[in-house]
Amino acid sequence: MATVNDNYLKLKAGYLFPEIARRVNAFAQANPDAKIIRLGIGDVTEPLPEACRTAMIKAVEEMSDRSTFKGYGPEQGYAWLREKIAVQDFQARGAAIEADEIFISDGSKCDTGNILEIFGKNNVIAVTDPVYPVYVDTNVMAGNTGEANEKGEFEGLVYLPVTADNNFTAEIPSHKVDLIYLCFPNNPTGASATKKHLQAWVNYAKANGSIIFFDAAYEAYITDPTLPHSIYEIEGARDCAIEFRSFSKNAGFTGTRCALTVVPKNLTAKAADGSDVELWKLWNRRQSTKFNGVSYIVQRGVEAVYSEAGQVQIKALVSFYLENAKIIREQLTNAGLSVYGGVNAPYVWVKTPNGLSSWEFFDKLLQTVKVVGTPGSGFGAAGEGYFRISAFNSRENVEEAMKRITEELKV
Ligand code: MLT
Repeated sequence: MATVNDNYLKLKAGYLFPEIARRVNAFAQANPDAKIIRLGIGDVTEPLPEACRTAMIKAVEEMSDRSTFKGYGPEQGYAWLREKIAVQDFQARGAAIEADEIFISDGSKCDTGNILEIFGKNNVIAVTDPVYPVYVDTNVMAGNTGEANEKGEFEGLVYLPVTADNNFTAEIPSHKVDLIYLCFPNNPTGASATKKHLQAWVNYAKANGSIIFFDAAYEAYITDPTLPHSIYEIEGARDCAIEFRSFSKNAGFTGTRCALTVVPKNLTAKAADGSDVELWKLWNRRQSTKFNGVSYIVQRGVEAVYSEAGQVQIKALVSFYLENAKIIREQLTNAGLSVYGGVNAPYVWVKTPNGLSSWEFFDKLLQTVKVVGTPGSGFGAAGEGYFRISAFNSRENVEEAMKRITEELKV
């Protein structure tokens, strides 16, 4: 008899965003005339930049001619794209990352989950709480945890609370952990990290032989010039960090799919026999075996992000969403709510009013003003009593949603 991976049975019923979609769809079916505004999942709404579209159209045309047609590309991504990323995203910021340390992929969600395959089973793993649920669920699937308690915390994971008290930046653990997930600018709280804060993590990781998984999917939203965009801007990070980046949120590739993972060549972890093994080699082996690369057409579209026109256009996109975030922050603050994030990030993190639980506030907003957000408790036990509002939507929808919510809060 075939058996299943029992670890999946430990997971909570549904992944957060499909669960929200299920509730919203049920409401929409029961109220077919309701004009629902979705500020839940962080999915972009604005068109792909023109430079990217033009490059992709040209790439499609190349596919129509045998002399320019492309079949399988390199599993790691085309060199012409990796080189531009190395120079413009990393070296220009003083981060010594080479093109062959960059692996192009179809998403940071996939990569942050898949990376666990190259790590052993006995690592002590730390996540912040609240946290992007993929980090937790993929560890559960991989068998790196026990069961969940009534608060939804999994046995075996180290949860580092992030709250208004610590400015939504986790304190460095007083004990040793082996793998640490950090996300800055943060999903879901919208918090950002200073160089000093990241330096403390790098120092900790180096002292303890730990590896930091640094999720920088939202780095384009950093407006404060003193804040680091990459962990490799921090001294020593090449010895202890893997970084994940995405073209979803800066260039609108959520549907088109393209991301990257950086594994520095000198970065090592221990084999069972105590020897040091280069993680780059294992990740390269993993990708070569299980992944056939991102399509040529999409990579050409992403290459255009690094052109002069592309840079101007992605900056305009990011500014557009940041202006949405500003509107959300200001309106909700004026309505008397405690509001965090949304300055260097596209997410606004709000304390729910009148002691409502996260899901109670979700239901209230859906039922009364037909606005969808994300319950903070969906990101972890410490997110209870908070609510995330995404700035990814049209200006018209954001303004209308804020009008509806602020009027409802006056009642
Ligand atoms: C979110 O809403 O948190 C995002 O959609 C996360 C993601 O990009 O997967």
